[in-house]
Formats: sequence, C-alpha cells, structure tokens
Amino acid sequence: MKRNIFLIGFMGAGKTTVARALHERCGMQLLEMDEKIEAQEGKSISRIFDEDGEAYFRSLETKLLEELKGRENTVISCGGGVPMRAANVGAMRESGSIVYLSAEPGTICARIRDEHTRPLLEGHMNVAYIEGLLRERLPYYQSAADLSVATDNRSPDEICEAILEALEN
Ligand code: S3P
Repeated sequence: MKRNIFLIGFMGAGKTTVARALHERCGMQLLEMDEKIEAQEGKSISRIFDEDGEAYFRSLETKLLEELKGRENTVISCGGGVPMRAANVGAMRESGSIVYLSAEPGTICARIRDEHTRPLLEGHMNVAYIEGLLRERLPYYQSAADLSVATDNRSPDEICEAILEALEN
C-alpha cells in the first residue's frame, strides 16, 4: 500500500466521516484539507469564497497538497473540488493512493441539505443541481481514482473495510 490515502469525491460523499473511521481503525494520522485551510487563513471556507474568491481558495488547495508530499501514513480528506486540477492529482499520486467515494445525488442531498458550509451549493441545495454538477465532475473523479467505493446505504465501517481490503490486494 502507498503511504497516504487521499479521499476524493463530491460534497457529502462521506470523505470526512470515512477519514475519521480510517484514522480510528488503523491509527493513520488524519488531515482534513478544508479544516487546515480554515485554520491557516483564520476564517471559514464560506468567508474565504466571499472575501477572497474561489480562485484564491483553489490556489490554497494546490499549495497545501504540495506541502503534504512529505507526509506519511496519513488519511487526507480532500475538498470536493480538488481533483479538478491536474496539478492536484499529480501531487496526490506522488504520495498516496486516491480513493473516490461515490454517492447518488439523492443521497448527497439528503446528507447535507440542512448545512450551510458549502458556498457552491448555497441557494442550490436540490437534487437536480447536485446531479448537474456531479455529472461535470464525474470524469475527473473517475480518472483520478485508483479505487472507487460506493457509499450509498453503507456504514462508515463497511466503507473502511472495503477500502482497506482493496488497497491491501
Ligand atoms: C468544494 C467542496 C468543499 C469545500 C468547498 C468547495 C467543492 O469541501 O472545499 O466548499 O468544490 O466541491 P467538501 O467536499 O469537504 O464539502
């Protein structure tokens, strides 16, 4: 197994939850990209988008992934937009396995509909919008992934198990 695991996927696919489960289960270190960026900038993702713009946020993601190249034995929960940039995919490939967590648009919407932490979905929290954005992103997720795991109707533990089993083989 390569030394780090990068969890990619759409907002609400379960990246944060599964990263925590992997951390608890196999003692890997845990890093949540959004959380790290918020701490570095001293403000929420929503405020970064509002005050500094999405392009600035995307440059922070790329910079953070460069810094992560030196990490080992870490499970990294990536922001949902990370695989849209080729440089980000290259940086992840250099230091780990990339696992795509998939979920149906209806599942995603049900999971995150009451949250207000994702500027890209503010005012668009409905299945049709999520479906459209997911369709645009799917080729990027799929081509970046070493492994794809569906999360619909599965517990974090079951997903964890599927990931570990596939990566060990
Ligand atoms: C984004 C996903 C968010 C966060 C930002 C942009 C995206 O992370 O990075 O709001 O472009 O899909 P989560 O996928 O952890 O919600």
